[in-house]
Formats: sequence, structure tokens, C-alpha cells
Amino acid sequence: MHAITIPEPGGPEALVWAEVPDPEPGPREVIVDVRASAVNRADLLQRQGHYPPPPGAPAYPGLECSGVISAVGSDVTDWRVGQEVCALLAGGGYAERVAVPAGQLLPAPVGVDLVDAAALPEVACTVWSNVVQLAGLRSGQTLLVHGGGSGIGTFAVQLGVALDATVLATARAAKHDRLRELGAAHAIDYSEQDFVEEVRRLTDGRGADVILDIMGAGYLARNVAALATGGRLAVIGLQGGRKAELDLGALMTKRATITATTLRARPLAEKATIVWGVRDEVWPLVEAGKIRPIVERRMPMADAADAHRLVESSDHFGKVLLTTS
Ligand SMILES: NC(=O)c1ccc[n+]([C@@H]2O[C@H](COP(=O)([O-])OP(=O)(O)OC[C@H]3O[C@@H](n4cnc5c(N)ncnc54)[C@H](OP(=O)(O)O)[C@@H]3O)[C@@H](O)[C@H]2O)c1
Repeated sequence: MHAITIPEPGGPEALVWAEVPDPEPGPREVIVDVRASAVNRADLLQRQGHYPPPPGAPAYPGLECSGVISAVGSDVTDWRVGQEVCALLAGGGYAERVAVPAGQLLPAPVGVDLVDAAALPEVACTVWSNVVQLAGLRSGQTLLVHGGGSGIGTFAVQLGVALDATVLATARAAKHDRLRELGAAHAIDYSEQDFVEEVRRLTDGRGADVILDIMGAGYLARNVAALATGGRLAVIGLQGGRKAELDLGALMTKRATITATTLRARPLAEKATIVWGVRDEVWPLVEAGKIRPIVERRMPMADAADAHRLVESSDHFGKVLLTTS
């Protein structure tokens, strides 16, 4: 088969489409013939040599895929050859075939094109586990999504709306119309506006009940300031740095909670629990058309370098997909 390899870490040109050995399924794995994968921000770091795959994961990038099962391991009883699926991966999605632990498979949602289904597993698992499982977003509450136009953000906005929350999102102004089309009540231009002031103004001074953050250190103090009493801040990205000072007094006064998680390195059993929760709680929303994959562009997998250039520019809205021929 072919896969995107990284012979030497570096810029987008470091991604090389090359012939590699086919994967073999372990006893609890299936082989998926990949129809599409999607570019995640973390793939850019892996390409630069800063985010190596966890032990046991395929060397090739790609944290999710869609496709058709072509082989099943000896202990797999609940999946069969020929089923259309999508999958959460620890790596290896940028390939024509990938071995997937059975617990990380999801049926391709009914009513969603199989290629577009590749846009869903990573964002669905990350956003649901943080916003619903950890932060406990409930109907009627306010959710602030930073980076609303990202792959993660476009999903989080839709999930918040589907759960009857009021959704506020930060993004550059060029993305605001599309965020409102997804159901965001307000879009905040973080480059021109003070998001803390905006959140307070839009919530009559209360603040946001839940904040999904991708900026880390750069936004920590302001996120705490923008939280409502009893608010929950879920940090999932460090685009603004990893080390910051935290005013514990401000946190205590608000009886607020901060969590910080990463999905890729979690043990298989935890990932399987999240995947199961997504299948149970999120897939019905997708199949009802309340949440859809937001796809900026489909590109041939062999052109992954161009796809990385596009994502690096942040001019995309939603996900960039890589398709096999
Ligand atoms: N912890 C986990 O398990 C996990 C899993 C998946 C993803 N993530 C993280 O989630 C983030 C999004 O991932 P992705 O793949 O969806 O990324 P992406 O599509 O490449 O989007 C990155 C976004 O960052 C936004 N951004 C840049 N500076 C900003 C700022 N100062 N304030 C608000 N937004 C800003 C950009 O929006 P503008 O164009 O509007 O600037 C862009 O939409 C990444 O940090 C990634 O590492 C974490």
C-alpha cells in the first residue's frame, strides 16, 4: 500500500507519498481500507518532529479515517468485512490501509457521505468528552468556543446548539457569517475585541458556564475572568503556550474548575469508552442532521503537503480531507 511518510521532520515538503508494507490486524483489530482521512492541527506538529506517535501506533500521521473493513482480527466478533466505518486513530490515517483497535471504530453515520465521515471521529470524541463528559454542559447554559472556525470549533458550535446551549465563538471576522449559520448566537473577533468584555456583555455579566479552549497559557487568565460562577474551563490546546500564572483566588471565588486533557495518548480502554459515548449520544444528532461534517476541501492524499499548507494558513473553515483514489 501507499502512505504518507516523514523521512525527515520539517515543512510540508517533508510529507512523502511512498510504498510501505501493508498492516496486519492484531487479534482485537480490524483493517480498514481508507476512503479518507482528515488533517488535524496535531499532524503539523508531528510533521515537524514535535509530536511523535505514542508507543505501538503506526508511524504515519492521521488521527482519524473513514473507509471499509477489509479484514478482522481473530478476537473481533462485533465487526465484519465490508462494513462502512469511521475510526479514531492514534496515527496511520494518511494511508491506503490502517489497523484499528476494534474499540475505536464507529459505524459510518447513516445519511453522511463516507468520505465526509472522516471529518467526524477526532472532533466528536474530543469535543464530546470535554464539553459534555468533563464540563457537563447542559441545556440553557452558555458555551464559549475558542477558534470557532477550526475543525474542533465547527463541531463544538454545532454540538452546543444541538444541546440547546447558547454558543459564543471566537474567530477572525472572515469566519463570522459561517459561524452564525452553524447556530452560534454571537461571533467575537478576538483580534479586535476583548472577548472577556464581550462574553460579560452578552451574558448580562454572568460569564460563560463552559469554555472550550485551544489557546492554553495565552488565554488562561482571561478565560478564568470570562467564566460564570461554577464555570468549567476545558483546555485542549496550547496554541498560546503551556506555562502561565493562575490566580487560584479568582478560581475559588467562582468555584470554577479547570481541566486539561489530550485524547491521543489515553489508554485504549478510555478511548473505547469515549467512542461508545459518542456512538450513543452524538451519532443520533449526526443522523438527525443536527450536526454535520464541515468540510473546507477534499484533496488527494498524495497532496498532503498542500493540505498542510492550507491548514497552517488557518484560512480553512472546518476540516480538510485527504482522499484515496
Ligand atoms: N487535547 C485534545 O485531545 C485535542 C484533540 C484535537 C484537537 N486539539 C487541539 O484543538 C485545536 C484545534 O484543532 P484543529 O485541528 O481543529 O485546528 P485547526 O482547524 O487548524 O484550527 C486552528 C484554529 O485556531 C484559531 N486561532 C488561532 N489563534 C487564535 C486566537 N488567538 N484565538 C482564538 N482562535 C485562534 C484559528 O482561527 P482563526 O483563523 O479565526 O484565527 C483556527 O481556526 C488545536 O490546538 C489542537 O491541538 C486537541
